[in-house]
Amino acid sequence: MRKITKLFLLLIVVSMILAGCSKKDADDAQSQVKWTIGMSQCNLGEPWRVQMNADIKKAAASHPEIKVVYKDAQNDTLKQQAQTEEFISAGVDLIIISPKEAAPLTPVVAQAYKKDIPVIVLDRRVLGDQYTCFIGADNKKIGRAAGKWIAELLGGKGKVVELKGLMTSTPGQDRHTGFREGIKGSDIEIIFEVDMKWLEPQARKEMESALARFDDIDLVYAHNDPGAHGAYLAALAAGREKDIKFVGIDALPQEGQAYVKQGIMAASFEYPTGGAEAIKIAMGLLNGKDAPKEITLASRVFTKETIDTGGKLLPKE
Ligand code: FRU
Repeated sequence: MRKITKLFLLLIVVSMILAGCSKKDADDAQSQVKWTIGMSQCNLGEPWRVQMNADIKKAAASHPEIKVVYKDAQNDTLKQQAQTEEFISAGVDLIIISPKEAAPLTPVVAQAYKKDIPVIVLDRRVLGDQYTCFIGADNKKIGRAAGKWIAELLGGKGKVVELKGLMTSTPGQDRHTGFREGIKGSDIEIIFEVDMKWLEPQARKEMESALARFDDIDLVYAHNDPGAHGAYLAALAAGREKDIKFVGIDALPQEGQAYVKQGIMAASFEYPTGGAEAIKIAMGLLNGKDAPKEITLASRVFTKETIDTGGKLLPKE
C-alpha cells in the first residue's frame, strides 16, 4: 500500500474511534438523566423572560440528572394551558410555570398538583393554593418603594402617568396597589392611568395619547422597564423627553440599569427572575425534600447615585 493511502486509512480509523467515544459520552450523559422538568414560559418576547430561561438553563447545567424541556406560549393563555396539559400527559417529573394570567391558568396548575406532579410557580401567581411552591419578589413592596421614592423625587407633588402591567396578572395588580399606598399623603396626582399589558409598543402608543391630552406631565411610573422605555420614546418623538422623568421595574443590566446609566430613566427597581432559585427548589423536591410554600426574593433600586455601586437594597418594612 502506498504511504499516503495508509495514512488516509489510519485517519479514518482514528476518527471512527473518536466518533465512537463522543457517542458513548453523549449516551453516558443521557443515561444520567433521571428526571424531566417541563418549563412553561408565558412568552419570550421580552428580554426579562429570555433572561429567566437563561438563568434556569445556567442553573440546570450543573445537574446532569435533570433535563429541562422548554415551551413558549407566545403570550397566549390558551396555548399556555394546552402546553402545560401536554407536560402532564407526557408524565414530566416536575413543572415550572411562569403563567401569563392568574385565573385562567389556575385549573391546569391544580390538575398537575393533584396528580402529584410538583409545580413551582414563578413570578406571576395563580389563584388559591393548589401548587407546590411560589417564587417571586414582593411586588406590593416594590410598588410602595417606587411610590415613596417618586413622592420624594417630586417634592411631594406633581402630575404622574401610570402605565400598568397586564391587570389580569398579579404583578400588575400589586405594583399598582403598592404604588398607591406609597404616594398616600402626598399631593401627587395621577392624571392618566392605562393598562399597557407589559408591552413596549403598547406603552408608547398610550403615552402618545397622554402627551396629546396633557401639556404638563412630571413623571411616568411604568410597571416594567419596557413600558418606561416605550413612554420615553413617545416623549422623545414629541420633543418632551427632557421635561418628564421615567421610572420602571425589572432593572436588567442590559435594559433598566443601562437606561439609568444613560440618563433615560430616573430609577429602575429590580425584579429578579427567580430562575436559579427554581432549579434549586426543583432539585430538593426531586430528591424527596419539602419546599416552602412561598419564597420571596429581595429587590434593589438603581438610581444615578447608586448605579455604579450595584444599586440599593429595598429596606425591610
Ligand atoms: C415580562 C414582564 C416583566 C415583568 C414581569 C411581571 O413579561 O412583563 O417585565 O417584570 O413580566 O410578571
